[in-house]
Amino acid sequence: MIRPEVTSFFDEATNAVCHIVRDPGSMACAVIDSILDFDMASGTISQTSADAVLAEVARQGLTVEWVLESHVHADHLSAMPYIAERAGAKMGIGSRIDEVQRVFGKVFNAGTDFQMDGSQFDALFEDGDTFAIGGMTARVIHTPGHTPACITYVVGDAAFVGDTLFMPDFGTARCDFPGGSAEVLYESIQKVLALPDETRLFLCHDYKAPGRDEFRWETTVAEEKAANVHVGGGKTRDEFVAFRTERDAKLGMPKLILPSIQVNMRAGRMPPPEDDGETYLKIPLGRMSGL
Ligand SMILES: [Fe+2]
Repeated sequence: MIRPEVTSFFDEATNAVCHIVRDPGSMACAVIDSILDFDMASGTISQTSADAVLAEVARQGLTVEWVLESHVHADHLSAMPYIAERAGAKMGIGSRIDEVQRVFGKVFNAGTDFQMDGSQFDALFEDGDTFAIGGMTARVIHTPGHTPACITYVVGDAAFVGDTLFMPDFGTARCDFPGGSAEVLYESIQKVLALPDETRLFLCHDYKAPGRDEFRWETTVAEEKAANVHVGGGKTRDEFVAFRTERDAKLGMPKLILPSIQVNMRAGRMPPPEDDGETYLKIPLGRMSGL
């Protein structure tokens, strides 16, 4: 079993984690779930987080073959094209991205130039697809539930699970976004937990947890099975669905959901400039509550 080398970058501003996964047998790597820094109050974008990833790539002398997303994030902007263009890498996401684009293309009145077929990406991965990162084979598992297009990348003994599971003491991802479903997330989590017990799971977020003062983003299948507070220790599907549904009803929208989705559904590119040559992000009024 190949044991890829993983270097992770935690972003305290958004509680999100970006990973570099490297083939131990070559200089090839992929970057998963990159982050573009965005200050909502001033409308300022910066690339500090992405530049840190590129600096690490340069330090290790790596070739980035892929920039990958686990899903259309609702809490941070993606730096996918910034990294892919500088590194000469391809961009990949799950094949059900079109479902997300159709919902939010309408919400943001994205215009006729906005293709809702995922064509902004180089690769749209189906469930079971495999692709190479150097000498490693990455395998895609569709893991919907948080959103319809969520996927997990399995590379050797490591799995990058996006927003399915969080650390065992924090639980699972919310399921109340359009196309989300607690029942479906439960089934997806079972697919992840069916991987070998020693599989290293790399998460997309951490928020600490009661009694834990440091951020963590790596666990194992065995630890999640035994102790995940939402689905571990033999919790039933019905218990999970009831808990998740009740919890989600009380959650507010993520702070950066409006800028994040309209950028991330375009593979991390900004909307086209308006007639003054400037670029704007929209705040649709009253469109999110009915979804
Ligand atoms: Fe998410």
